[in-house]
Amino acid sequence: MKILFCVSEAVPLAKTGGLADVGGALPAALAAVGCDVRVVLPRYRSISERGWRPVGTVDVSSGGEAVSGTILDGTMPETAVPTWLVDQPKYFDRSGLYGEAGRDYPDNLARFGFFCRAVLAWVGRQSWKPDLIHCNDWQTALIPPLIRAERAERTPTLLTIHNLAYQGLFPAQEFALTGLPASFFTMAGLEFWGQVNVLKGGLVFADTLTSVSETYAREIQTAEFGAGLDGVLRDRARDLWGILNGVDYRVWDPSHDPLIPAQYSAGDLTGKRICKEHLQREFGLYERPDIPIVGMVTRLVDQKGLDLVEAAVEDLFAFGVQLVVLGAGDARYEQVLGELPRRYPKRAGIRIGFDNALAHRIEAGADLFLMPSRYEPSGLNQLYSLRYGTVPVVRHTGGLADSIVDTTPDTLAAGTANGFVFVAYDAPAMLQALRRALEAFRTPHTWRRVQKTGMAADFSWTASARKYHALYDRTLAQSVRG
Ligand code: ADP
Ligand code: GLC
Repeated sequence: MKILFCVSEAVPLAKTGGLADVGGALPAALAAVGCDVRVVLPRYRSISERGWRPVGTVDVSSGGEAVSGTILDGTMPETAVPTWLVDQPKYFDRSGLYGEAGRDYPDNLARFGFFCRAVLAWVGRQSWKPDLIHCNDWQTALIPPLIRAERAERTPTLLTIHNLAYQGLFPAQEFALTGLPASFFTMAGLEFWGQVNVLKGGLVFADTLTSVSETYAREIQTAEFGAGLDGVLRDRARDLWGILNGVDYRVWDPSHDPLIPAQYSAGDLTGKRICKEHLQREFGLYERPDIPIVGMVTRLVDQKGLDLVEAAVEDLFAFGVQLVVLGAGDARYEQVLGELPRRYPKRAGIRIGFDNALAHRIEAGADLFLMPSRYEPSGLNQLYSLRYGTVPVVRHTGGLADSIVDTTPDTLAAGTANGFVFVAYDAPAMLQALRRALEAFRTPHTWRRVQKTGMAADFSWTASARKYHALYDRTLAQSVRG
């Protein structure tokens, strides 16, 4: 089965968050379960020249202007999945992917509208014809309506929702940039309270929809999590599925991670102690093995529950922990967190910025990993933490709910306890879970048990790739019948 996988970021070429981890790993996992996969993404500034060869051009008329793109052919570094890049320097040779300094680029509809149309124009001319096009998030969500508008031979589509809060909303006057006929700008199409909603177009017109955990796939059909699109999703409930993300253990496994100071595995945690010492030294914290380190690696946005951390900060330090945070995003959170080392010297280590190697060192060196998300479609860091023996403390939502089992006498006895979970979105509930986690930390046999259960868990991509494969089959079977 030939699958064209369209995505706006993929490790190691370009990354802002978990979507890139998926874009890098899922196509390779699909290839391993028998799909003939090609990836296509924009050629950003972060992607070096080496290894890419121009193979043709495409012309797209965008808002009355002719824009042409060059298609570069190559393979994904490391996984060797065949990949096309759409090169158009005016749109993609910039320092950010979607914006800079916390602001979206004002021409994002022109940029990703161009990308989607260039992809379709290009594949239309190739002998390699996809049986199905797999789109991801709003940046590629114009593809299903564009295919529907073409009328001719229709390639089936599947759209994965990684985060319903990012919808690609633009003023109505920009609708022409979608390349769609005006008849698509209605309530039954991309119109949304007078604006253009690109994601909505994908939700309405893709043959199959998925989201990145079963719980989030249910949650987004409710007003609380639906971000205004829950009605559209309820209408499509029969075609909407949840498939939890996986982990690329080639990249995220302490037994062979080259980015951490010492390797280790469940059988021998000596290396983890070295990683912790190293992390304490790196951040100028008290170098004491008995002080628990709470780690966070996250985009600094409302989704991630940073207001709870802010509200709980005094109590948190009163527990006697050290806090190490790596993140970038909203200026407000950057400032609040940035002040902590001065208020809590030798106990708070904060790094504002994006730093992949440091993300690995925190996963390895911390004792607990905190994810108090307001919502979390899948979440990858809790899965990475499990493998690194860094016990997750998470809120019960989305993919966190589907992967982390709270530690209680029953789950401990059953051998399923792998973290600490709280339900209410408030600081006292979070602190209560942290308090239980710290009690366990001070009870070595309990702690080791929880750690080992997490380290032994297998969240590799294969299981998810098989589920996608089955959904591709189902989608194709339906399109033949339809
Ligand atoms: P989201 O996609 O919502 O940001 P995920 O948990 O799915 O959340 O994935 C986040 C990914 O981005 C992880 O691989 C994490 O390590 C990485 N990440 C987030 N912020 C940073 C940062 N400041 N520096 C390095 N890596 C980061
Ligand atoms: C989004 C979500 C995150 C998910 C990632 C990859 O950014 O916020 O939960 O893991 O996409 O699917």
